[in-house]
Amino acid sequence: MRSYRIAAIPGDGIGSEVIAAGIEALTACAGRDGGFEFVFDHFDWGSERYKKTGAFMPEDGRDQIKGHDAILFGSAGAPDVPDHITLWGLRLAICQPFDQYANVRPTRILPGIVSPLRHVTGPELDWVIVRENSEGEYAGVGGRVHRGLPEECATDVSMFTRTGVARIMRFAFALARSRPRKLLTVVTKSNAQRHAMVMWDEIAAEIAAEFPDVTWDKMLVDAMTMRMTLKPATLDTIVATNLHADILSDLAAALAGSLGIAPTANLNPERKFPSMFEPIHGSAFDIIGKGIANPIGTFWSGVMMLEHLGQPAAARRLMRAIERVTADRSLHTPDLGGRATTAQVTKAVCDALAGDNE
Ligand code: IPM
Ligand code: MG
Repeated sequence: MRSYRIAAIPGDGIGSEVIAAGIEALTACAGRDGGFEFVFDHFDWGSERYKKTGAFMPEDGRDQIKGHDAILFGSAGAPDVPDHITLWGLRLAICQPFDQYANVRPTRILPGIVSPLRHVTGPELDWVIVRENSEGEYAGVGGRVHRGLPEECATDVSMFTRTGVARIMRFAFALARSRPRKLLTVVTKSNAQRHAMVMWDEIAAEIAAEFPDVTWDKMLVDAMTMRMTLKPATLDTIVATNLHADILSDLAAALAGSLGIAPTANLNPERKFPSMFEPIHGSAFDIIGKGIANPIGTFWSGVMMLEHLGQPAAARRLMRAIERVTADRSLHTPDLGGRATTAQVTKAVCDALAGDNE
């Protein structure tokens, strides 16, 4: 039997609650399939460890997980640790060295969930956002001098390379080609940013020539927020820079009903390193320990992990179980306006898996 070793990193806040739920559902899914199993190794990396030891993960942390088949990540962030320290100490410390340059964020309105957009239903909002995940505005280039003085100066330089842009464009065009509509929107801001964004547009056009069967268009990021809101059905696959896609994916999640259901995959498409799967909701300190965190974002991330591992039938089965559960409003957690608990939703998904005979 194929056995997958997964590094589970719950991180902070509700991370441990949703990862425990995710492990339960993924274990049930593997059991229902019978052809493979998961072995989870647990890593206590996060803000608590940072406060005690000064580091989010051990010095040889990446070596400990580089041989795993995938990483299941909860969230990173604590109220008493500055956010940029957390991000660079944990999430980016894994994503960047493991060259997980393609961040994939599907958005759909799942059955039973109501979009805040009036009259918009399931089929009209079915997007995948591809986020450049290795450079751009998150390159980490910049500095700060003369701290505290009137002449203090700080820069964050966004950095784009031809290699980085070409590979994310190629990934996005290929993903668009694999979807029925074969439609890609390239998000840009080349009217105001006249160097890197112009190169971004040029490389998009070059790569487009390799994909004559994909229809593509270009959208300025500000106008894109309107198109997502007013004409959601005109979009399918979307590619954007690290920061633009960060912002647009929160909008996408909200338009699909809740940040609590949105999944993400940080992929190293060449499979030289493990890829990382995580819900995008973050650590949500306001609801920590209450048992009401929505585990659907983690389950859907699990679906993406199964696809990546080459278990498409199990991935489809888990997605069917998720949709059966969201369709039942009595199983909605408070972020969706319901009263269900994490445990109830998890049990319902496991029951749906057990009862799925397709
Ligand atoms: C995301 C998050 C992170 C990001 C935060 C937690 C730093 O918003 O994954 O979208 O900006 O990348
Ligand atoms: Mg974000």
